[in-house]
This record gives sequence, structure tokens and C-alpha cells, in this order.
Amino acid sequence: MPQNLFGLEGGPILGALFDLDGVLVDTAKYHYLAWKRLAAELGFYFTETDNERLKGVSRLRSLELLLEVGHCTMTEEEKVLAAEKKNAWYVEYLHTLDQGALLPGSREYLERLRAAGIKIALGSASKNAPLILERLKIASLFDAVIDGSLVSRAKPDPEVFLKGAEKLALAPRSCVVFEDSLAGIEAARAGGMRIIGVGRSENLPGAELYINSLHDLI
Ligand code: BG6
Ligand code: MG
Repeated sequence: MPQNLFGLEGGPILGALFDLDGVLVDTAKYHYLAWKRLAAELGFYFTETDNERLKGVSRLRSLELLLEVGHCTMTEEEKVLAAEKKNAWYVEYLHTLDQGALLPGSREYLERLRAAGIKIALGSASKNAPLILERLKIASLFDAVIDGSLVSRAKPDPEVFLKGAEKLALAPRSCVVFEDSLAGIEAARAGGMRIIGVGRSENLPGAELYINSLHDLI
């Protein structure tokens, strides 16, 4: 078994479920820039530290967290419009994305897993995930793509990863989730998957192994 591909002990791992933003691709900075711009319009400064809480969180929930930081209130209708505005700015940034936005080792590691017969799914909260995969020309490396438009419950609910495992026709316990957010780690734990944290253990308790980037596993 290609267990050494994951650096984990224990039972066989037949599938890999990847978060997108912050694991495969460096888009977190564009989310931040777009939220910061919205905050500036609302009259407050949104720091990178504030932004940490938004990672892995759905678009609307992110807006609500941002409004809490700025002590602002909005009607549900205003929230929808503000989230659309942020997304339009974010999508503008996405149109400048090129292969350089892939995080170290992403493509090589995906290719290596495929060559070893591991099934691969994306499990992302982002509704922009298909656009990003397309722009970075990595869409063909996935057996299944579950994005924010296919789930009704956001991370930390395990729905996105359970759907990914189901699409791969694998039991959750034989899949490993790669995540850089607390909400995502909690989702994977609730789903019964193995977990590799991309980041530091202090920020992401609950993973079996921590890496800086996928390059560490090549
Ligand atoms: C997650 C990001 O992957 O997707 C979050 O970590 C983001 O920051 C969420 O809010 C939703 O993304 P989108 O592209 O649908 O607004
Ligand atoms: Mg992420």
C-alpha cells in the first residue's frame, strides 16, 4: 500500500479529499483583500488577524463575522448585496490567477496520488472552486468536485467531505482530508476521516499530521 504517500500510520487510505483555498492554491489573500475593501466601504479597518476566523467559512457567514468586527448591522437583503459585491471583487482577482498561485507541491502531489491509484476529490466551501480549478488547469486531476454550490450545510458540518467520499465510493475512514482551517478540521473529524493539517498544530488542533505545504509529502 502507498501509505508513505501520506506519512500516516494505520489502516489503508484509498482516497484523498482536498480543501482548495489555502491547501492547493493561494487564494486566501484575495478573499482577504476583497473583505478588507468591503470593510473600508463600511468605514472600518479589517485586519489579517480578524480575517483568520473567516477561513473555511461560507461567504454569507464570513460577512456576518466581518459585520461583528465592525459593529455593523444589515438587513438580510443588504447582506446578500454586500456578499455579491465582495464576490465580484474576488472574481476580478481570480481572473489574474495563473499557475504561480498553486501552493508548493500541489500539482506534483496530486499527480503522484493519481499515479498510485488513490482517488481524489475536492471538498471546498467555495462556489468559485470550478473557476479556480479551470484557471489553474488542475480540474482533470480530480475524480470528483464538491463545491459550495453542492452542499447545504457549511463546514464544520461534515457534508462536503461525506459527499466527496460517497462520490469516490469510499468509506470515510479510508479517506484523508487535507485542511488549513479549523472549521474544516472539525468537519473532517465529524465525518470520521483521517486528517492532515496544512499549517501549525497550535492553530489547527485535531489533525494526525501537520505539514507546511504538500511539498513536504513529495
Ligand atoms: C473557502 C474559503 O474555501 O470558501 C473562505 O476558505 C470562503 O474564505 C469560502 O469564504 C466561500 O468561498 P466563495 O468563493 O464561494 O465566496
Ligand atoms: Mg482552506
